[in-house]
Amino acid sequence: MNILITGGAGFIGSNFIYYMLEKHPEDRIICIDKLTYAGNMSTLQEALKSPRFVFYKADICDREEIYRIFDSEKPGAVINFAAESHVDRSIEDPEIFLRTNIIGTEVLMDACRRYGNIRFHQISTDEVYGDLPLDRPDVFFTEETPLHASSPYSSSKASADLLVLAYFRTYGLPVTVSRCSNNYGPYHFPEKLIPLMIANALNDRPLPVYGEGKNVRDWLYVEDHCRAVDLIVRNGRPGEVYNVGGHNEMANIDIVKLILNKLGKPESLITFVEDRKGHDLRYAIDPSKIHGELGWLPETKFGDGLDRTIKWYLENRSWWEDIISGEYMDYYERMYGG
Ligand code: NAD
Ligand code: DAU
Repeated sequence: MNILITGGAGFIGSNFIYYMLEKHPEDRIICIDKLTYAGNMSTLQEALKSPRFVFYKADICDREEIYRIFDSEKPGAVINFAAESHVDRSIEDPEIFLRTNIIGTEVLMDACRRYGNIRFHQISTDEVYGDLPLDRPDVFFTEETPLHASSPYSSSKASADLLVLAYFRTYGLPVTVSRCSNNYGPYHFPEKLIPLMIANALNDRPLPVYGEGKNVRDWLYVEDHCRAVDLIVRNGRPGEVYNVGGHNEMANIDIVKLILNKLGKPESLITFVEDRKGHDLRYAIDPSKIHGELGWLPETKFGDGLDRTIKWYLENRSWWEDIISGEYMDYYERMYGG
């Protein structure tokens, strides 16, 4: 099958491409990516050597170009990873989030309708549910939890989810949606918590923790997410939403301390900075549905996944050093005041 993946030069999309090239030698992968600040061709260097991989630099909002690619490549399934994905950037400037995350999704689904009712999977996020209280560890996000997004980023993802489910009901497009918790692993852009803390610790720079660091996230190793998406695309029921997460909740401050400890760096590097506006308190996924229907459970323990991640950042220093030496530094100055 020809599988079209958008956003494949980013963190999760690229991990998914490598997962698929290895796991499904019968499939051909077509990648579309606009190469925004978050997309990096060096990430796809190995994939480009495969005769089963082809790359197009294109914007998913560009209808003409997207139709042209669908016309020539004839995908059998489309998986939409492409998005503006960083909450802090959405607070600074929401517009591009609405364009890429909502209109881009619409254009892709219109292409799916036009070229033969193609199977479409939307990569969504647990952030569409808003947040959970810190003092109710017994409460989790299920697929029935009402959408209650907090940031421009999560609102744009929630809007796209509604649109995807509307295309199922209105046009009968065979869609699925997955809502995953926080991922970590190789190729994670160093503006996000775990890679930012690893990079700053390695450079003996301050580690900026928002507020008191008590906010909780439910961390999943990226490969476990890739396996979940593969299962949903092959065996998931059209029209359904699947939550993906691993019952691995941790407070930010504990993660930061663990990273410092693993790198042998002092906790004095931790700097408490102004809190994120509208900062969600806690995310926690109930994965019963995907476990019950598709047999999925996370396989990587957090300690092992973090060790693998740190090892990857140590062995691939040039990958992230190139990133933090470019446009990203302007953002860093604006965000953290140097
Ligand atoms: P990322 O920011 O690392 O990568 C996004 C990729 O999309 C980049 O390669 C970028 O160039 C590309 N892109 C952006 N706008 C585009 C456009 N208009 N047209 C084509 N390509 C475009 O993001 P990520 O962390 O890999 O997240 C991927 C998806 O997973 C997103 O949809 C995100 O909402 C979702 N998600 C992420 C996490 C997480 O923890 N990172 C968790 C749950 C869900
Ligand atoms: O839950 C899934 C979501 O996870 C995805 O949909 C998003 O695309 C992805 O970016 C991520 O969102 P978060 O906002 O949870 O991730 P981030 O890495 O930005 O922040 C994780 C936590 O760490 C959050 O509580 C904010 C905090 N933080 C983050 C940064 C960048 C800090 O304390 N300091 C920082 O410098």
